[in-house]
Amino acid sequence: MRTLISFLLLLGPLTAASPAVRWIDSMKLGVLETDRSSYVLGVNDLGYLQHVYWGGKLTRPEDFAPARAAAAFAFESREGMTSEEYPAWGGMRYGEPCLRVTLADGVRDAVLKYQSHEVRGDQLRVTLRDIQTGLFADLIYRVYARHGLIARHAVIRNQTKQSVVIESAQSAVWHLPNGGDYRLSHLAGRWAGETQLVQENIAPGKKVIESRRGNTSHQANPWFAIDADGEASQERGRVWFGALAWSGNWKFVVEQTPNQQTRLTGGYNDFDFAYPLKPGEQLETPVFYAGYTEEGFGDASRRMHRFQREEILPDRAAPKVRPVLYNSWEATTFQVDEAGQKALADKAAKIGVELFVMDDGWFGARDHDRAGLGDWFVNPKKFPNGLKALIDHVNGLGMKFGLWVEPEMVNPDSDLYRQHPDWAIHFPGRPRTEGRNQLILNMARDDVKEFIFALLDKLLAENNIAFIKWDMNRHFTEPGWPQLPAPEQRKIWVKYVTNVYEIFDRLRAKHPKLEIEACSGGGGRVDLGILRRVDQVWTSDNTEAFDRLTIQDGFSYAYTPKVMMDWITDVPNMNGRSTPLKYRFLVSMMGSVGIGANLNHWSPSDFDLASRMVAYYKRIRATVQQGSLYRLSSPRTENLTANQYVSSDGRQAVLFAFLHAQQFRYNAPPVYLRGLDENALYKLTPLDEKQLAERARTVSGAYLMHRGLNFRLGGDFDSASVLIERVP
Ligand code: DGJ
Repeated sequence: MRTLISFLLLLGPLTAASPAVRWIDSMKLGVLETDRSSYVLGVNDLGYLQHVYWGGKLTRPEDFAPARAAAAFAFESREGMTSEEYPAWGGMRYGEPCLRVTLADGVRDAVLKYQSHEVRGDQLRVTLRDIQTGLFADLIYRVYARHGLIARHAVIRNQTKQSVVIESAQSAVWHLPNGGDYRLSHLAGRWAGETQLVQENIAPGKKVIESRRGNTSHQANPWFAIDADGEASQERGRVWFGALAWSGNWKFVVEQTPNQQTRLTGGYNDFDFAYPLKPGEQLETPVFYAGYTEEGFGDASRRMHRFQREEILPDRAAPKVRPVLYNSWEATTFQVDEAGQKALADKAAKIGVELFVMDDGWFGARDHDRAGLGDWFVNPKKFPNGLKALIDHVNGLGMKFGLWVEPEMVNPDSDLYRQHPDWAIHFPGRPRTEGRNQLILNMARDDVKEFIFALLDKLLAENNIAFIKWDMNRHFTEPGWPQLPAPEQRKIWVKYVTNVYEIFDRLRAKHPKLEIEACSGGGGRVDLGILRRVDQVWTSDNTEAFDRLTIQDGFSYAYTPKVMMDWITDVPNMNGRSTPLKYRFLVSMMGSVGIGANLNHWSPSDFDLASRMVAYYKRIRATVQQGSLYRLSSPRTENLTANQYVSSDGRQAVLFAFLHAQQFRYNAPPVYLRGLDENALYKLTPLDEKQLAERARTVSGAYLMHRGLNFRLGGDFDSASVLIERVP
């Protein structure tokens, strides 16, 4: 029976009455439909492509009004007053443009009008053309109906007879219904303090959120949510949300015009941007994904999570659970050697680790962070038998082997740099600013890209390496590419990233079993562009469990817990706080579990607890990694943090609760669960019996969602978890 129901559910979207994309000729409207939302654009009476609607689903054709040019004011043109779908800078337009160009003859004006469209399956392509030249912008839309998301990007084509410099190329502008009462949510932070959720009212003017650092950055992340009237909660309220798939310089401009048009424009950062196109050449922008929900931030993030698992991540065709890993970094830093790593591996295997990862320090003269990057040969003193002896040992213990690399970087104190100083990004004759004593190889150069690909390919071909942690430990400075003529050099911002992407893609194609973690000194490279190429990300170098709660909370607004790697490490850590080992485990279990502690310092009781926790995690990890996340109580605002995960079939749920910053010994408030069936019965299995105040061990979904669960928590940094299983 259940199989039949799943089959019918599967058929649902395929047999839906109206297609996800259609063009209504009589009204000159393009209509994109998802499960619960509609997005409408149209050609107005002046021939401009105009945004018409984005919100809850419209079902009757009569509900769609054709696009109409707006009225002009003394200082505002009709075009400027119109919410154009992809405005170029030209004519009387003063808002943030999607496209800015300079033609070889000096013209810096582009006015895009509708030229044609094509509907193909779930995709719509609308071609715009400059009113006087052969400059084209193809706007490409794709609908992910069952995820409630739309993908947009643009291809700028130079079909003129002269060269054109693209000075700004945005992926999309997302228009909200006119009005002045919106709240923006975004993720800010810094190294070791990434993905902090910030919420602020949108006011007249512009707010810029960006990275100018060459990669995605710790400081800002290319995700947004905007809610109406600032009223949305986790489960209620209108929320427009989205994320840009790009791991280089990016920019979001959140704008409220003097006429209360509210919109967000995003794509390549136009700071220091100049992309020359010869006649016949084109530039493609990154893809910008966005959606709309009326069920608050919780539904917005659940949609993003499922979408990432089913449409973005490398295992999207057949999603798998992530293994429990061990990483050596915090235990041994650069002091790695065969005996030491084998000893750690022996201990890791005993607690149920499935993937043993050796971090930095195994190659060249890498005894500290001042030397060795670039020299990717095994250090013979540390590993006299090569990597094979260690890998065989790890494999013999039943674990896979993973290795740390940082291929884009070079220490000036390395053989590679001594041979190829010109490979580093630099301006000739100017200082080369070092970050963590290293420079960046110019991956935009094809010769450098091929060199890096070849050495990684060889490393993987010669060793049984199942996983690489790909790190990047500094941001760009002096972004010169002296081998190219000056007008071409700024292509570095785009070409660097596309070449890095190409290496990931080629390595995966050639080594199909390889899994990759993206790391950039923690969470500096987390975005939907890299997630298409990696299985998980290193969330933050800050592994202190209480700090992690807010880092993970913010992360979860944008990205699935499945990719959120979190190590259990030793205490005190980072800020001097010492949380119990159980607390550290439970914080980590809300994503993908890793262990980064020095196991040589653990007591027998630590090992016992760890074995029990890893076994518990293996029971619930499919629910955590592939289920639906409900943020019940936030570490940003409450003394109790609570998160719940429900499996995709609704048969298992797991609840995590953490107490912190409590005062006066008040009892912890009840935790009200979500996403269960009110009429079903659920069996409760607390991780620690004494922590659950409820006597009954079988209760209804209604009880769990309306009466809630009560915990007995002893004080700050006490923590609890309950396994909830549907019966029968
Ligand atoms: C930065 C990473 O985030 C750490 O986990 C570790 O791999 C170090 N680099 C190694 O240098």
